[in-house]
Amino acid sequence: MKSTKYSEKVLDHFRNPRNVGTLEGEDVAVGKVGNPTCGDIMEVYIRIDGNVITDAKFRTFGCGSAIATTSMTTEMVKGMTLDEAMKLTRQDVADELDGLPPIKMHCSNLAADALHEAIKSYRRGKGEEVPDEDEKVKDEIKCLVGKDEFLDKGVYLNVEDRNEFKDLRTLVLYSGDESVEIAIELTEVTDRVILLTPDETVVINPELAERLASSSVKVLYQSKLLEVRGEFEVEKVLILNIDEDEEYELFVDAVVIIE
Ligand code: FES
Repeated sequence: MKSTKYSEKVLDHFRNPRNVGTLEGEDVAVGKVGNPTCGDIMEVYIRIDGNVITDAKFRTFGCGSAIATTSMTTEMVKGMTLDEAMKLTRQDVADELDGLPPIKMHCSNLAADALHEAIKSYRRGKGEEVPDEDEKVKDEIKCLVGKDEFLDKGVYLNVEDRNEFKDLRTLVLYSGDESVEIAIELTEVTDRVILLTPDETVVINPELAERLASSSVKVLYQSKLLEVRGEFEVEKVLILNIDEDEEYELFVDAVVIIE
């Protein structure tokens, strides 16, 4: 498939989406997510019997690729156990659709993320412990090189007075909804706010995703902060581009790390 062309299967699922709608009942769980790249929103409903997904539906305010991938996802998950569905990736869905143009791959995150959120919400409702993926990020933050050295010299663990950040090139490490809220808030005093995440997307609530998408925050995906550098105060950071496996320096004045 050429990189900008859609497969017949994608077009078919876009034109005739399966499983559009909602589900109701005590055995139904719903996952809602927003795509911060474009601000689009997805809701996935699953009906669960024991440990198996027996039905799935979706509603979206999303593009054609989001519709096609979620339509396919809802078809694929019927009959899967919750563990199997948790392992379903956007790549599995794209493969089943005979590929997606690379530029539209981010759209397929909506389907997988909303599905996974639905499963987590169901499990939480049953009193099961659901591991928080942000914990992984938080652990890495704890041992970040330069964090303690530059504390209050450009490294901030919270934002008490946003005016301190006026016109500063500010890097905010993604560690959940609060970090996104702060990044958006800082755009009121500086238009140079970068949000950094090692993941391909950030899973946040739809309303926040919409605000992030329409803000001036620049999100660097698949990027890991390796080190904070400077002489007396923060001058730059060393970042790893995980996708390219390349390290580079970025000049910044402030680094916000919400633990
Ligand atoms: Fe928003 Fe595709 S452009 S989901």
